[in-house]
Amino acid sequence: MCGIVGYAGKERCVEVLMKGLGHLEYRGYDSAGLALQRDGRIERITEVGQLENLTRTLAGRNGDLSLVRTGVGHTRWATHGRPSEENAHPHLGGDGRVAVVHNGIIENFSELKEELEGRGVSFRSETDTEVMAHLIAERVEAGESLRLALVGVLQRLEGSFAVAAVSVDEPGKVVAARRQSPLVIGLGEGENFLASAVQALLGETNEFILVENGEIVEIADSSVEVFTSSGEPVERESFEVEWDAEAVELGGYDDYMLKEIHEQPAALGSTLLGRIDTGGVVDLSEVGLDLSEIDRVVVVACGTAYHAGLLGKHAIEKLARLPVEVVIASEYRYADPIGDSRTLVVAISQSGETTDTLAAVQAARSFGARVLAVTNTKGSLITREADAVLLTRAGPEICVASTKAFVAQVAVLELLALALAGSRGVIPDRELREIGRGLRLAPEKVEETLELLGNRVEEAVEVFEDARCSLFLGRGISYPVALEGALKLKEISYLPSEGYPAGEMKHGPIALVDEHCPVVAVIGEGLVREKTLSNVEETVARGASVIAVARDGDKGAERIARLVLPVPEAPEILAPFVCSVPLQLLAYHVAKDRGLDVDKPRNLAKSVTVE
Ligand code: F6R
Repeated sequence: MCGIVGYAGKERCVEVLMKGLGHLEYRGYDSAGLALQRDGRIERITEVGQLENLTRTLAGRNGDLSLVRTGVGHTRWATHGRPSEENAHPHLGGDGRVAVVHNGIIENFSELKEELEGRGVSFRSETDTEVMAHLIAERVEAGESLRLALVGVLQRLEGSFAVAAVSVDEPGKVVAARRQSPLVIGLGEGENFLASAVQALLGETNEFILVENGEIVEIADSSVEVFTSSGEPVERESFEVEWDAEAVELGGYDDYMLKEIHEQPAALGSTLLGRIDTGGVVDLSEVGLDLSEIDRVVVVACGTAYHAGLLGKHAIEKLARLPVEVVIASEYRYADPIGDSRTLVVAISQSGETTDTLAAVQAARSFGARVLAVTNTKGSLITREADAVLLTRAGPEICVASTKAFVAQVAVLELLALALAGSRGVIPDRELREIGRGLRLAPEKVEETLELLGNRVEEAVEVFEDARCSLFLGRGISYPVALEGALKLKEISYLPSEGYPAGEMKHGPIALVDEHCPVVAVIGEGLVREKTLSNVEETVARGASVIAVARDGDKGAERIARLVLPVPEAPEILAPFVCSVPLQLLAYHVAKDRGLDVDKPRNLAKSVTVE
C-alpha cells in the first residue's frame, strides 16, 4: 500500500516521477505528491485524490519544473489520517530542509511525536510519517549527512516501511531504506531510480537491484551505493526484468481490467510454457523439492489468491489424493498452526508482498514446513522467504481487481497437482497425461470463451439495474468460482454479493432471494450438475432472476435462466478458467454501467502491506 519513487539524474525528474507514480497507482490513490530539489530549496506539490489531479496541477505550472533533476514522489493509501492535502506525502521536516515519502506504518509514532512536540516541533499532518521527517531534519541540522541521519532515525522506528528522502543540503541525492516494505533500485545511464516495484520503472530501465531488509541506499546521477543497517557498504548483483513497457500501458483498451481479462489466454500460455509437454507430462523440477516426501498440503493466501487456493485443493485432492487445507493467511498467522517437515505450505500472492501472507509463511517456517511461494512478482518479498518458488507468468497486473493473475495461479496449482500425483503414483500415468494434455488447452479454451460470450455479458447488466444484492451459487469446483465471481462484483461495483455453495442455500441465504436479488449460477458439469439446477430452480420459484454460466447449448440451464452466459465444452480441469471469464466480465460491465472506476475501486489498494 502506497507507492514511492525517487529519481536522480537528468532534467526529466518530474516526468519520470509522474510516470512512475502512474504505474504505482494500484497501490493507493487517496492523494499524490512530489518533493523536488530546485534552486536551493525543496518544493512540495500535492493533490488529494487520484494522480490525474496532480497531473492537472503540474500542467498549470507551464514547464517551470523542467530543470528539476532530483526528487521523490508518493501515491497514498491512507492509514494514519484521512485523505487530505495536509496528510498527503511528501512530508517536510526542519522548515522544509528535508522531505520524506513513506510506504508502511511507524508503530511507535505517537511516542516519537510526543517527544518531538516536547522539543517544540509542530506538526502539520496526522500521519505517522511526519515524525520521520522531523527526526531526520533534526539530525541534518545538527550536521549529519542525510544518509547517517536516516540510519540514526531508523534505529528508533518500530514497524515496517520503505522510505525515501531528499535534503536541501545534498543536491542531486536521494537516500532510501527499507524494512519489510519493498524497494527496488533501477539502474540508468546518467540517472538512477528508486521505486516500490519494478513496474514503476518499465520503459526507463530493465536493470534492477533489490534492496534487502534493513539496507540503506544512496543514489545520484552516476552512482548507486548500498549499505547495511550499520553503515557497511555492500555489493549487490543487478538482475534483468523481461517485462516491457507496453505491458503496463492500456494498449487501446479503456481500462486495465478489460485489457487484463483479454490477456488471460497469453497469461495462461506463458505460465504453462516449458512446464508441460505436448504429451501432457508435467515437469516442475524447477521447484527443487522432493514432492514424494509430502504427506499434507496447506495453502495460505488472501482474497482472490485464496479462491485460487480452493480450486487448487480440488485439483490436488482429486489427482494426488493428498489432504489439503486452505486457510486465509490473516487467520493462519495467529492460529498456532500444526505441521512438520512433510507439510508443504503453498503461499499464493500475486504481488508477493501481502503482509498477512508473508506472516503466514513465517508461521509455517516455525514448525519446519517446506514453503512453496506461487507469485507473479520475481524478486518479491515472498520469493525470499520461501524454500521454493513457482512464478505465475501473467505479466504485470495493474487493475486492483485480480483477473489474469488468478487464472495463472490456478494453472500453477493444477500443474502442482499433476506433479504431486505423478510423484505419488496414485493415478495411472496414462490418465495423468490425458489430464495434462487437457490443461495445455487452457489458453485456447479461454480465447474461445471470450469469443463465444461476445456481447452477451452486456445484456446481463440489465438484471442488476435495480438489484440491492446478489447471490453467486455453485457446487464442487464451481463453488470457489462463484466465490471469486462474487468478490469481483462487490469490489468493483459495490453491490453486496455473496458466494455460496448452492446446496447450502436452504440453510439460510435463500431468505435474501426476491426480485431485487439476482442469482448468478455456475452450473458446472458432472455429478453435481443436476443438483445445482434444482437448487437454482428453488430461487427462481422465489422470484430471482437467474444468470447461468453453463456449457453452450445446455438445455437445463436455458430452461431456468433469464440469460445464459455460454462457455465452451472443455475438459474438467479447465472449468475454473472458462467459468471465471464470464463472471469477470459481468463484474466489469455492471461496474461500468454504474459509472465506476473499475481499475481503482474505492477504499482498496492492490498490494496490502498492512495487517
Ligand atoms: C481481489 C484482489 C485481492 C487480492 C489479495 C491478495 O481482486 O485482487 O483480493 O487477491 O489482496 O493479494 P496478493 O495476491 O498480491 O497477495
